[in-house]
Amino acid sequence: MKLSTPHLLGIKDLQSHDIRLILDTARQFKEVLQRPIKKVPSLRDITIVNLFFENSTRTRISFELAERRLSADVLNFTAGASSVSKGETMLDTVNNILSMKVDMVVLRHSASGAPHFLAKHISAAIVNAGDGINEHPTQALLDAFSIEDATGGLEGKKIAIVGDIMHSRVALSNIYLLTKMGAEVTVVGPPTLIPKYLAEAFNVRVSYNIKETLEWCDVANVLRIQLERQNQPLFSSLREYNLAYGISRKLLDGLSKKIVIMHPGPINRGVELDSDVADGHESIILQQVENGVAVRMAVLYLLADRGEAGN
Ligand code: NCD
Repeated sequence: MKLSTPHLLGIKDLQSHDIRLILDTARQFKEVLQRPIKKVPSLRDITIVNLFFENSTRTRISFELAERRLSADVLNFTAGASSVSKGETMLDTVNNILSMKVDMVVLRHSASGAPHFLAKHISAAIVNAGDGINEHPTQALLDAFSIEDATGGLEGKKIAIVGDIMHSRVALSNIYLLTKMGAEVTVVGPPTLIPKYLAEAFNVRVSYNIKETLEWCDVANVLRIQLERQNQPLFSSLREYNLAYGISRKLLDGLSKKIVIMHPGPINRGVELDSDVADGHESIILQQVENGVAVRMAVLYLLADRGEAGN
């Protein structure tokens, strides 16, 4: 089985059978990661560059670990320590790196559309590791994988996406993925953080009532307030946001059933999520991080299109 696309630019471009293929392949790699020897030779002789023009902890380490577990040769690039600060364009930087015979590019960039631009100009396979406020496809795939682990499937599941929908690439990729896979999605947050067109453009419900939405859902994926992407105040204070939309122990204990709590990280404790919830029994946040490695192994393996998984 093959992916229907040579790059992973966004979930928008994937068919539901591509998503199924990635999740099923990730399941095989998760099994590999439980073995005493966690490494497979699948991407031996493949060279991958991780190009991070924007900060990252989890995603960068997760990609690098996935690449090393697949026996790829790995190069790391962070914009701050590069010739970008001398005025070089992204395309020149990438072409210089590719001339050294690099096969795949993992790109994080603060400009929405950066990986799509690159895909028009280079032949190497590109994986989008987050572009501005557009998409973060591997995050949505690892979120879906983690939902399947926690609840047994995606179809018919009720998923709430909570908080800063407007500035979150995680929200958009999750909306594309979950609706393609037959889950029901409600986005909830303050009206100023939810784009007006959302309910019309996507098959999602919009709510401003956190308690009602948590009562409705099986899983709540709670997002970070992306202050670095807000150039004007969209709510009065972080304290007030926490009071109105933060997920607290009291709020969860007041529900008639147990729900699953997710967060892509980094968490702003005491803002969108209180500490006793982030670390509580409903939280699968660290399982998400763990699953990220298997999911990224699956994506890289399928894009490189080599042999059988797990060999
Ligand atoms: C997310 C991102 O960078 O978009 N983090 C991540 O990749 N785990 C979410 C965020 O920054 O809030």
